[in-house]
Amino acid sequence: MSIRGKVALVTGASSGIGAATARKLATEGVVVGLAARRKDRLDALVTEIIEAGGKAVALPTDVTNPASCKAAADALTTQFGGIDVLVNNAGLMPLSSVDSLKVDEWKRMVDVNISGVLNATAAVLPQMIAQHSGHIFNMSSIAGRKVFTGLAVYCATKAAVTAFSDGLRMEIGPKHNIRVTCIQPGAVKSELHEQITDATYRKQMDDLAASMTYLEGEDIADTILFALKSPSRMDVAELFVLPTEQGW
Ligand SMILES: NC(=O)c1ccc[n+]([C@@H]2O[C@H](COP(=O)([O-])OP(=O)(O)OC[C@H]3O[C@@H](n4cnc5c(N)ncnc54)[C@H](OP(=O)(O)O)[C@@H]3O)[C@@H](O)[C@H]2O)c1
Repeated sequence: MSIRGKVALVTGASSGIGAATARKLATEGVVVGLAARRKDRLDALVTEIIEAGGKAVALPTDVTNPASCKAAADALTTQFGGIDVLVNNAGLMPLSSVDSLKVDEWKRMVDVNISGVLNATAAVLPQMIAQHSGHIFNMSSIAGRKVFTGLAVYCATKAAVTAFSDGLRMEIGPKHNIRVTCIQPGAVKSELHEQITDATYRKQMDDLAASMTYLEGEDIADTILFALKSPSRMDVAELFVLPTEQGW
């Protein structure tokens, strides 16, 4: 299916998987709205995409705030006439043991990883329903399929994203012709580990990163393109994508 000229909103586009996805979509002729909090990063990526011949706009957004998500979706719709694709990618993974009671970090994960997905989905759905088409990508994780120590809360948030994706797909696919794809990556090179405040888990993740070749953000972006370009009769509901060396 041709995707040239489509309009996409990508959350968490200021780094990692989101930035790589925005770049790939833009090279395929998709107009990209870049949503995240760090405006300087978004502005730099917009410049890079435009210089490479693409179209992009920076939409400083906090996904934990429904009004902020709606403002981003409205701005993109006003400027480019609609939204065809939402990539719900913003997320946090500050690992710790539950008995450390880092409750502020738990709350941030719930707010960004779960509420952020719901807020951005609510912001684009009316537009997609009105045009009777669209494609929503939700970034879950291997951590939404399996539980690991130190990741209890993170795994709970990603299991929620996986469950929501499936329910969303069942409701809005048949009724509104909107496809839903849940992406479940293994280890991907990004800034995700930088928010780990627990020294033990930070070292564990640093050691893991040194022990195998992680996926690149662009590998995940390629899986998004695969699902997006597939025929409109076909919804790639789930993609579980791992580094070859990730034996768990
Ligand atoms: N890296 C992996 O191994 C891996 C594996 C499986 C799944 N994932 C998932 O992939 C997604 C992207 O992560 P990444 O690995 O690319 O990490 P990353 O480089 O740290 O990117 C996270 C993105 O989320 C954004 N974000 C955080 N809080 C936000 C908020 N309140 N509002 C808007 N944006 C916010 C950040 O932007 P600002 O700080 O500028 O707001 C950043 O762009 C996450 O959902 C993560 O859970 C990652």
